[in-house]
Amino acid sequence: MRRDCSILVLSGPNLNLLGTREPEVYGSHTLAGIEERVKAAAAELGAEVRCRQSNHEGELVEALHEARGWADGAVFNPGAFTHYSLALRDAVSAAGLPTVEVHLSNVHGRESFRRRSVIAPVCLGQIAGFGPDSYVLGLRAVVGRVRAEDD
Ligand code: DQA
Repeated sequence: MRRDCSILVLSGPNLNLLGTREPEVYGSHTLAGIEERVKAAAAELGAEVRCRQSNHEGELVEALHEARGWADGAVFNPGAFTHYSLALRDAVSAAGLPTVEVHLSNVHGRESFRRRSVIAPVCLGQIAGFGPDSYVLGLRAVVGRVRAEDD
């Protein structure tokens, strides 16, 4: 019998503006629309997701700390913090939850500063370039890992 699987889906700065923010880069989907897709995918997997977004580094750190109390894993789009936030890297490590870093855009095909992630090394891996599907793929990856560790 599969046990319940609860996943934090965490989005960082400026992702609240999806839909109107640089649609040529990030597409026309809103964050709410992406979160609905993730919730539908979670329902198919028999998992539960809780979605949060913040523009503030400290709130993202706290969301990761709080997740230790209820989540089995996390899908995390740190936005621009990806490229320099050691506080978020440490929070992912401290939380100790299997985490997949996701990006809507292919960060490796853009400006050179976006190629470096200080957070990916403490994650299971990184999924980038698939638009909203990056979140869904990240969810599948982390749920798969949590369940594999349960077996
Ligand atoms: C992003 C990529 C980051 O480089 C950028 O700062 C973002 C969005 C993405 O989802 O493609 O805010 O994380």
